[in-house]
Amino acid sequence: MKLSIIFILLLQLLSVTINVAHSDTPPSDIYSASKSFDFLLLSYASYCPANEIAAWNCSRCISQVYPAITDIQVIYAVTTDTQAFVGVYNNQVDNHPILILSEKNKLVFVAFRGSMDIASWITNLKFLQTPYPKAKGAMVHIGFYQAWLSVQPQVEAALTSALKSCPTCTSIVVTGHSLGAAISTLCMADVIELFPNVPTELINFGSPRVGNSAFSNYFNSIQPNTWRVTNQKDLVPHVPPQVGIEFYEHVTNELWYFNSTINYEVCQSIGEDPYCSDSVNPLEYSIYDHLHYYGEDMTAEKIVIGIWGTALLTSPFWGMPVLLATCMMNDANQGKRMERAQLGCLVSLFSAPIVLSISLYKTYYNGYSHTFAFLPLLPLASYISLLFIGFSKKKQ
Ligand SMILES: *[C@@H]1O[C@H](CO)[C@@H](O)[C@H](O)[C@H]1NC(C)=O
Ligand SMILES: *[C@@H]1O[C@H](CO)[C@@H](O)[C@H](O)[C@H]1NC(C)=O
Repeated sequence: MKLSIIFILLLQLLSVTINVAHSDTPPSDIYSASKSFDFLLLSYASYCPANEIAAWNCSRCISQVYPAITDIQVIYAVTTDTQAFVGVYNNQVDNHPILILSEKNKLVFVAFRGSMDIASWITNLKFLQTPYPKAKGAMVHIGFYQAWLSVQPQVEAALTSALKSCPTCTSIVVTGHSLGAAISTLCMADVIELFPNVPTELINFGSPRVGNSAFSNYFNSIQPNTWRVTNQKDLVPHVPPQVGIEFYEHVTNELWYFNSTINYEVCQSIGEDPYCSDSVNPLEYSIYDHLHYYGEDMTAEKIVIGIWGTALLTSPFWGMPVLLATCMMNDANQGKRMERAQLGCLVSLFSAPIVLSISLYKTYYNGYSHTFAFLPLLPLASYISLLFIGFSKKKQ
């Protein structure tokens, strides 16, 4: 089992991915970076404490998107720790310093929060799927689906009441970042059925893969109006791995910021465009990029970065080991966790020489960067983990 997972990831490393072309319906709304930026800020704001969202006084709310947001309803499900908020986005305010750039809009939105502990969310992400009732053969990630189902009635009720209280609102926008992006995708599939006469748009950021190809085919056929924004080398759009025990495939349409927060590429309207973020070298997958959409630093939100996250933040070259560790720790046999963690460490250890050579090479050619200065900590951390695991084993 373990070997097969490693093999699969090696395949990914060699960029041998299977790409299935299907939908050729690009979004009907053209991509607007300034509009998407507003929704990114709303996605980030969804990480704030519920009372501050409701009062619209969290630091992110005041400094950036206020006063264009009204009629806020915060939604929370204890069972899955899922938070979202519905509101009216009124971009008809004159002379607003930020919103002046965007086109004028008055619409209803729902923003989904991601995990408050992003690094451990990634490393504990299981790949298990559950049947998706709306399409034959469609399977979706069980955790994302449960998260959506836990807030579904509240979100639908909140959207209904928001549309009632804002008759001049012209559309519904669903948004979210990270885990929130995955939930937003599942939400959109229901919203489009529930409000067939209201134009809808899905704009999300750093979304993991949500379901299998039957799901993404179904999704693309009902909701072509989607911008799935990916930032440079963001790690999260690459999980769960595409070639795997369960077959995951992204929904269309990806919008990839390939080398900065300014230059972007409108990807082909297939779920997995090999020339967009799928072309990134897995060794360079980065959490830093996951937390810096449009250059906006998300670490200002009170999210927990954790050990792996800190490692990834200090180096852009830890993506592959983390991805491997993710797989090692998430085999169905929970009992073998220790052994798997150990193997994960070993893998990190073996990748250390590669990582070190890259860092030395980069430092030599591009000059000193504090990012690379942290790299020698990699083998050290691996040895310490190994020692620790060794001790725990002996005690048993
Ligand atoms: C925001 O408003 C709420 C409710 O009025 C209050 O409890 C909270 O302390 C305020 N937070 C900040 C950061 O001002
Ligand atoms: C990014 O790509 C564009 C177009 O290919 C190029 O003009 C630009 O110099 C690149 N910027 C960086 C920072 O590499």
